[in-house]
Amino acid sequence: MTITLSQKVGEFASEFAIDGSYVQQGVKHFVDQTAQALSANMERAMPMIPSFVTRIPTGKEKGVQLAVDLGGTNFRVSSVHLNGDHTHKTVASKVAVSDDLMTGTQADFFGFLAQQVKDFLTEHHSEHFSQTEPLRMGVTFSFPVNQVALDKGYLLRWTKGYDIKDAVGKDVVELFQIQLDALDLNVKIVALVNDTVGTLLARAYASKSDDGKHKQTLIGAIFGTGTNGAYSERLKRVPKFTAANYPEVFKRYSPEHIANQTMIINTEWGSYDNDIDVLPNTKWDIDLDENTHNKSFHMFEKRISGMFLGELLRLCLLDLKSEGLLLQSTKLEGNPVWKGFGMDTSVLSFIEAATEAQIETGKGDYEKIIKAMGLAAKDITPEQVAALKPLVTAIGRRSAYLSAIPLAAITLHTHALEKFDVVDIGVDGSVFQFYPKFADMVKEAMGYVEGISVDRIDIGHAEDGSGVGAALAAYPDDS
Ligand code: BGC
Repeated sequence: MTITLSQKVGEFASEFAIDGSYVQQGVKHFVDQTAQALSANMERAMPMIPSFVTRIPTGKEKGVQLAVDLGGTNFRVSSVHLNGDHTHKTVASKVAVSDDLMTGTQADFFGFLAQQVKDFLTEHHSEHFSQTEPLRMGVTFSFPVNQVALDKGYLLRWTKGYDIKDAVGKDVVELFQIQLDALDLNVKIVALVNDTVGTLLARAYASKSDDGKHKQTLIGAIFGTGTNGAYSERLKRVPKFTAANYPEVFKRYSPEHIANQTMIINTEWGSYDNDIDVLPNTKWDIDLDENTHNKSFHMFEKRISGMFLGELLRLCLLDLKSEGLLLQSTKLEGNPVWKGFGMDTSVLSFIEAATEAQIETGKGDYEKIIKAMGLAAKDITPEQVAALKPLVTAIGRRSAYLSAIPLAAITLHTHALEKFDVVDIGVDGSVFQFYPKFADMVKEAMGYVEGISVDRIDIGHAEDGSGVGAALAAYPDDS
């Protein structure tokens, strides 16, 4: 008996299936791995990087700060006007980073970024060029760096398709500052923050406690091109924060003072379970990893974030083609969508947002989907596109359920629900914002975890986490 497209799709979808008891098990493993990673730096463990940000904003911060944000796909320069009343106004410019720059030399790359800062200042803050005081700048840099001071961090490795080899192991603040100085900009980088740290700061700045409830912004998370989270931790719970690892800090402060500090930790949870002890591992996950620059690292991220969901679907579709069930007479060679990592996660979003019946009309939804897939009506029928929906749902749901793991685990690890009425989690990123029902599925999955009261956890969008966050980190009181 020949197998139909729907049957095969069902088989593939079942490989991505995930349930509540899996989430519970993943949380337990994450809590264990967190404790280990806070004790010692290990190459394959989550980096758990102290951010040197010790002050959580109150919402009263006031003034204009320059901030830049290197996220993944884009580089943004902005000036952020903090109004001192939990609100802000931002003037920003954005430019895409080309593939050539992402894989070229550090001098070309940081030179390009510095030029964008110059163009922005020329257009929006020309008054700066007649001032003698250097302009303080906060930098959001969304890659793993080993931070040793607020304004110093050595690049551990690239993620999300970047591969600028001569930057690895170097202090990215210094590399960037050299290029700013080469353009004579009189701009000084005073803070380097991960986007998740920025997200936490921005959410804390914007949050107002309501109904007299004791509310704490505990986590800043990104579910976008990549994924990661940062949270507030007491340094006495970070055994690896030792004089040997951070001599400069121990020269300035007593061990007691340090132990009593609270510091934001950048977990780099994209690297949770790099050894795949508990993570689901389909044939497509394995194929996908083979074609990444950071093979066998950031294995959690590769199952969750926007850069990878489209690729997982693409690899499944290629298998359906080779089984003779789809795209039989379509030539995919040379089509940019069908090259490695060419398929955008928006394909999944579009399919998920429409019902199978809507797609089958062959109208709006169908047309939008096949265009995003780089296909024409002769390549794939409305019924075939509709038949793919269970697979898309399974890939998206697995991503959301996995995303719940670190949020629940950190809430438990910090005992936050025992200390606060409401635990607040600020989130940014395209998957969180635009993937249909993503936030609902994350909450649903958290509900399966013992000890988590979902109704006391606020998960909300942190508006412009990276820009506002970098501005807050550069805020003079923080130094
Ligand atoms: C990076 C993190 C970043 C995250 C979200 C990951 O690939 O390693 O530093 O926070 O993407 O942008």
